[in-house]
Amino acid sequence: MKIKRQRSRRLWAKSGEVTDEVMQRLTVGEDPILDSALVVHDCVGSAAHARMLAKCGHLSKPELRKLLIGLRKIFKLGKIGKFNIPAALEDVHTAIETRLVSQFGEAGLRIHTARSRNDQVMLAMRLFLRTELLNRLASTLELLDIVQVKFQALKDVPLPGYTHMQPAMPSSVGMWLHALYEELLVIVQRGLSLLEDLDVSPLGGAAGFGVSIKTDPAFVANILKFKQHYRSPIQANNSRGREELHALQWITTAGAVMEKFVWDMLLYCSREFGFFALPNKLTTGSSIMPQKRNPDLLELTRSRCARLRGYETELAWIIGKLPTSYHRDLQLTKRPVMQALKDFSEILEMMKLSLKGFTVNRKRLEAAMHTDLYATYDAYRQVKLGQPFREAYRVVAKRVVDGTLDPKALQRDFAPIQKLVVSGMREANREVKKLAVRVAERQRTLAKLPDTVFN
Ligand code: ARG
Repeated sequence: MKIKRQRSRRLWAKSGEVTDEVMQRLTVGEDPILDSALVVHDCVGSAAHARMLAKCGHLSKPELRKLLIGLRKIFKLGKIGKFNIPAALEDVHTAIETRLVSQFGEAGLRIHTARSRNDQVMLAMRLFLRTELLNRLASTLELLDIVQVKFQALKDVPLPGYTHMQPAMPSSVGMWLHALYEELLVIVQRGLSLLEDLDVSPLGGAAGFGVSIKTDPAFVANILKFKQHYRSPIQANNSRGREELHALQWITTAGAVMEKFVWDMLLYCSREFGFFALPNKLTTGSSIMPQKRNPDLLELTRSRCARLRGYETELAWIIGKLPTSYHRDLQLTKRPVMQALKDFSEILEMMKLSLKGFTVNRKRLEAAMHTDLYATYDAYRQVKLGQPFREAYRVVAKRVVDGTLDPKALQRDFAPIQKLVVSGMREANREVKKLAVRVAERQRTLAKLPDTVFN
């Protein structure tokens, strides 16, 4: 069979038809750029699809071999960012198919049997999300290790606890770091359950309404290490964007956890508080004020955390109000997902830098532990002697005004609380170790995937 060269043809282009170039530019949009992140995933997904086609008798063995070799080559190029997606070809899926057709002729012409491009985007995005989310989990575990080391170094350093931004209760740097540790632990736990929710192969519905020749979506799911596949093709289509939105909700929540701690650090690093400091190499200067050292690192972490909410909203609006099945609107779901993942990765890096780097000013912190912070402990002492809390509260309120609280004695009452901080941290650390094993196991399984699909 003679194969016409298709180097710059769209898959849907038919002879004799003309396409408005402006329309073309505006509908292709950012796909050629964004899709570079999907090259490797489309190759893996296409290899699994080709194996399924061969199993079902739609591709011969030699044709399958050729396609697998071709896809592995493109995969390798994609890994080093060297696979070009020409704008004239619209997207990564067309660019890959065109390459396969020009290399292998008929085998290439057969690969789109029983699948749509949307099918391909959904699969590539699912594989992409799975890999990226797992990387973020591994990075969050690294941050947890940094928090643990810092905790061991600073756990007993006193820190006033504030509510309403007013001195409230005694606390410690250890108590503050323990909270961050527990919150990051929850992020990893939820991230792992999110990955389980995403563990469904979307491939198999083709244009979204099933295929009239023999196919085997369970086989594809199994090769790609998905737990299951969608039974309903319309449901698979409807999941596009929605599963990504779940991922973005998780990321936004992670950002919301971290922005609080960043805010605290900014406050504690201010001259007026002077509790914490960032080393010079983690601060920036001012173009006009010679004396300034600014914590831009913390501020830009905070604004990235804020921006995550924007991506989540953008995605929710794009998929909202669409009826079932495929609509081209869905093309715009890729950008917010990729941006959020990029920001999240940078937030984690920035958190690592600031947590590793900050130092404490023990003198200032000790001086900030004013006697009135211990007022509630004094009331508890009365409670221990049998006085109703409300009465004790009133007695102590008067002592605060009279200046008759005994800080030396009351300071000792923090000890049982600090003991709980230390034992809580130990317990959390045991849980983190178990989660790290689960993340590493999944990473090992996924790392083997290219070898199993291409060879
Ligand atoms: N770039 C498109 C997307 O992300 C690919 C699918 C195009 N399909 C179509 N029927 N026009 O949705």
